Amino acid sequence: MLAIRAAAGPARRQFFRAAPRAAATVSLQTRFYSGKKEVAKFTGVKDSNGLYAVSLIEGDGIGPEISDAVKAIFKAADAPVTWEPIDVTPIIKDGKTAIPDAAIESIRKNKVALKGPLATPIGKGHVSLNLTLRRTFNLFANLRPCRSVAGFKTPYDGVDTVLIRENTEGEYSGIEHVVVDGVVQSIKLITREASERVLRFAFQQAQEIGRTKVRVVHKATIMKMSDGLFLQVGQQVAKEFPGIEFDDELLDNTCLKMVTDPLPYNDKVLVMPNLYGDILSDMCAGLIGGLGLTPSGNIGDECSIFEAVHGSAPDIAGKALANPTALLLSSMMMLRHMGLSEYAARIEKAAFATLAEGKALTGDLGGSAKTHEFAAAIINKL
Ligand SMILES: NC(=O)c1ccc[n+]([C@@H]2O[C@H](COP(=O)([O-])OP(=O)(O)OC[C@H]3O[C@@H](n4cnc5c(N)ncnc54)[C@H](O)[C@@H]3O)[C@@H](O)[C@H]2O)c1
Repeated sequence: MLAIRAAAGPARRQFFRAAPRAAATVSLQTRFYSGKKEVAKFTGVKDSNGLYAVSLIEGDGIGPEISDAVKAIFKAADAPVTWEPIDVTPIIKDGKTAIPDAAIESIRKNKVALKGPLATPIGKGHVSLNLTLRRTFNLFANLRPCRSVAGFKTPYDGVDTVLIRENTEGEYSGIEHVVVDGVVQSIKLITREASERVLRFAFQQAQEIGRTKVRVVHKATIMKMSDGLFLQVGQQVAKEFPGIEFDDELLDNTCLKMVTDPLPYNDKVLVMPNLYGDILSDMCAGLIGGLGLTPSGNIGDECSIFEAVHGSAPDIAGKALANPTALLLSSMMMLRHMGLSEYAARIEKAAFATLAEGKALTGDLGGSAKTHEFAAAIINKL
């Protein structure tokens, strides 16, 4: 930063001209992913009782209430899981926000965690814990399925989108600096390595969930080098998956088409750089009625963390008014990731049937049931 600030006049102009070419050369020639064919595979093992341990971050606000509902439903379904509660209250290590060692060890050992919402205190001096978790475990893909919930009417019926967002670089690389007073620069970093692993994950995910198409969403018409590299890597990875159709679409076009008619996206997995994924995934959540029904998974090679997308809802915390659907659907994604799909299918069927029936809905869905009453209704249908 200092060097850039110090570079004045012709020297500074030269920096602007030279930088993109240098970055592209590095990306193409020296940075590549480990070459692993399979990415983000669950490697946890069962204990002597035939159970998988899962690290559980109950979270703040409504976190403990919705976690209790999920635990009760898992118990009733006999899911082969034991919960290992962990405390992620941040510590400051070498001047940086860090997760306590015991929590890191638990997630590293179990390879998987379920996470309730964490409140981010404003102006308390530490960065978002969600971001810290992502960085600590290098959770490179954010997986966001959005499926219409029968019984909860929105302007669109039958939505079933699957979106994967690159989670570690792009516009959120955090490389920003002041060039001169009144001129700031933010660098969008795209590497072959990070692009390849998230694109590989997208194809793998399409195979696992039975989708026949992978589509890269981008702006390579404008960001020819950065998005161009992402798209180029997509075209290369696609050659290894001949059973999956590959194409691409400009982000603005995707937005326009999706809000006009989302159904043509039901047979695709969409994959894209960080910022586009952040915005488009919330737009998809809007198509099915908002963040309260939306699950997500932060996926990495070492471990994965599944979480609801909504926050800690301090306004209703402790009142048994919270809807546990998003955390429950996140835990279904987790079970599938762990290879326990039959348990996921059974619980999911009971949850969607309860929602469709509409007799035991929480307040946010227009009902008057308490959190535990909604959970009990699901348990009755198992
Ligand atoms: N992934 C996360 O951990 C995450 C995500 C977003 C916000 N947050 C944090 O959560 C705190 C509160 O944020 P916010 O108020 O902006 O958003 P929020 O999602 O907590 O709440 C927004 C509104 O939605 C309602 N709501 C949210 N989840 C609900 C549920 N499961 N059932 C019923 N109603 C629900 C709330 O009552 C509130 O009216 C902040 O500290 C924020 O940083 C955490």
